[in-house]
Amino acid sequence: MTHQRIARIVSVGSSVPERIVTNKDLEKILDTSDEWIATRTGIRQRHVFAPGDTARAYELGGKAALAALSSAHRSPQDVDGIICATFSPDFFFPSTACKIQQYIGNSRACAFDVSAACAGFVYALSIADAMIVSGQCKRMLVVGAEVTSRTVDWTDRGTCILFGDGAGAVLLEEYAGGDRGILATYLNSNGALGDILYLPAWGEKRFMKMNGNEVYKHAVRLMVEATELCLAKAGLSIDMVDLLIPHQANIRIINAIAKHMNLPSEKVVTNLDRYGNTSSASIPLALEDAWKDGRIKDGTVAVFTSLGGGLAWGSAVVRF
Ligand code: UT7
Repeated sequence: MTHQRIARIVSVGSSVPERIVTNKDLEKILDTSDEWIATRTGIRQRHVFAPGDTARAYELGGKAALAALSSAHRSPQDVDGIICATFSPDFFFPSTACKIQQYIGNSRACAFDVSAACAGFVYALSIADAMIVSGQCKRMLVVGAEVTSRTVDWTDRGTCILFGDGAGAVLLEEYAGGDRGILATYLNSNGALGDILYLPAWGEKRFMKMNGNEVYKHAVRLMVEATELCLAKAGLSIDMVDLLIPHQANIRIINAIAKHMNLPSEKVVTNLDRYGNTSSASIPLALEDAWKDGRIKDGTVAVFTSLGGGLAWGSAVVRF
């Protein structure tokens, strides 16, 4: 019996800056409190580069990519495609993915960036899945790499307390051995809601702006909807899901999604208490935690879901 080609996630890797900023540290520079941040968001600390640090997003992404390759016992030259999701690139061009290609020492892959803000990882994963299933690539790195700390106004307590720097990467391989791999993806956007969360590319005040309440309202509804539609595409029901690995923006958003979907807390992966919102890196960072502590086993069914500026959102259903 021949199996259809499928894209399988074979490993994950990550990299975050060493420097940690706790909620208590933020109390010293902002009119905020550990209590407010922890209860309203679930975040307790985040890894961020020091102001003036010249570290690059592509270096974080490159380190995450090398870690994913190493854990799969693959070398950089084995890769024939690199996609990086980022809203905080080092350059408009070359793309962060091209810089990652150079950083890891690859000379044969196609490489490009995807712009879908916090939904970027799911978007990039979906594109990589299609490229592998169509036969265009055999082994691809999907990277989320962000230096969010350079995009927020550190005097705006409504945004800067939420975000962290970091990168996560997964290695995808063509697989013809059965039903292990990306089973379905679902993507959607609504450009009419672009003004509730945005980061200008030009002008004097190039900082992220967010209407938190509005984003919150759409986030729960749209991530639930995306997950339900994606599961339907995969032919699975919610009780067949072992793990929900959502974008790590706010613990209240995550809990509301889990409640809507009737998922018990032990099936939901969270680590935003330690990393904050790392945008396109948040799902691979959470996946790595789950993988390291044994929650990803042969046959585990996981759902990724995320939403970000655009608005752009989506889900992916994966069997490991
Ligand atoms: O990843 C991309 C997608 N982004 C998201 O999913 C974020 C979605 N939104 C959220 O997570 C939440 O809306 C926030 C965490 C951003 C805000 O939480 P909230 O419960 O919606 O608070 P709020 O904006 O309604 O503000 C409540 C109060 C306000 O004061 P008043 O007007 O009631 O006196 C704010 O000024 O809390 C105040 N506030 C703060 N107080 C202490 C806002 N930020 C802070 C702060 N510390 N850092």
